[in-house]
Amino acid sequence: MKLLERQQGLDAELLKFRDLWHPQPFREPLPQWCGRWPSLHDALMALPEADIARLNDNGAAALTLLSRHVPGLSTLALLAELPAAPGVTLPDRGAHWAWEIPGRKREQIEAFAAAAGQSRQPVLDWCGGKGHLGRLLALAWQTPVHTLEIDAALCEVGESLAQRAGVRQEFVVSDALTVANWPRAGQHAVALHACGELHRRLIRDGADKGVSRFDVAPCCYYRGVAESYQAMSANLQLVLTRDDTRLAVTETVTSSPRETRRRDRAIAWKLGFDAYRRTVIGEAYRSFKPVPEVWIRAEFADFLGRMAQREGLPLPSTSVSAAFEAKGWQRRDEVMRLSIVRHAFRRAIEVWLALDLACFLAERGYEVGLGSFCDRRLTPRNLLVSASKV
Ligand SMILES: C[S@@+](CC[C@H](N)C(=O)[O-])C[C@H]1O[C@@H](n2cnc3c(N)ncnc32)[C@H](O)[C@@H]1O
Repeated sequence: MKLLERQQGLDAELLKFRDLWHPQPFREPLPQWCGRWPSLHDALMALPEADIARLNDNGAAALTLLSRHVPGLSTLALLAELPAAPGVTLPDRGAHWAWEIPGRKREQIEAFAAAAGQSRQPVLDWCGGKGHLGRLLALAWQTPVHTLEIDAALCEVGESLAQRAGVRQEFVVSDALTVANWPRAGQHAVALHACGELHRRLIRDGADKGVSRFDVAPCCYYRGVAESYQAMSANLQLVLTRDDTRLAVTETVTSSPRETRRRDRAIAWKLGFDAYRRTVIGEAYRSFKPVPEVWIRAEFADFLGRMAQREGLPLPSTSVSAAFEAKGWQRRDEVMRLSIVRHAFRRAIEVWLALDLACFLAERGYEVGLGSFCDRRLTPRNLLVSASKV
């Protein structure tokens, strides 16, 4: 399918189903769609506990569940499904090139390098951290690499790794958001998980300056978005809020049972506090500052008292706090069930965001491909925009 066709289709389909993915059950106890699709609401409330986490994490399975109650979702599912990016086998780079890189990260880097097409141009590794990707490309492609990174300590480590590997890799300590003389014409710019505005700046500036090839795996699309996402390509109808762009990246692949329990408790307690606030001042959801981790480790009554004090509410009596704790856990259960609907659209929103970058480059005269460079179990941020100047 052509990029533009996919983009226009996905734009229209996401707009059509906005009522399902835009409301946040954490803020809205009963999103409007519950009234419009009562059988979907009932099905979610009746789900066995064991299915809830799985469906929140698996967008495709969640979309299948939704399709049983909401007609017309199959086109969206099709549009959000991308092919694997074509890859090559990397030449042997010696057994020890990646001694100090944790296993999962090394696999991500190797998969990215295999999918990024070799251009024979000098490489710019944008927001490259310790420059592991740049070092691998310098080894595999036998090409000079510049790694640009804001953190001087990471650059220092990267420099010694490059020396040990005997590759032509130089580090540039610079802020990617303001640097004026990078990227440069004729370069092959690569960016693995440069967050939000960092990857958008590379693409915008790089296209202006005549970068010859891009391979960009975006992440954290919401970084640098103020109120709403400013689309880079033309003719889009949909406007995403900052929270919508955050939805694209909310899933995690690895959570230990301990982390899950801690997260569940934090959600339940915050919802318990929200219930208290609604009761005492009758106000709809209002976001609050981050809650210090230690407050969640205390007793709920202490937590509620601290939150009430910080937010300028009357202090709760100890006798009511148990009821609000129970209310919080009950709300958490409902929120987790209702969130399955929102999460069913997560990948479609991420693909829409990546298509915006891809179509922008196509409008600027690049030949562009969009696909996944690795399995999502390795990293859910597995989309790769590859573009070559025609
Ligand atoms: C998620 S890490 C990815 C690092 C590397 N590309 C990789 O995949 O291993 C993002 C990197 O961007 C760097 N970074 C953040 N803000 C930056 C900025 N304004 N300019 C340059 N680098 C930045 C961080 O220090 C970090 O090393």
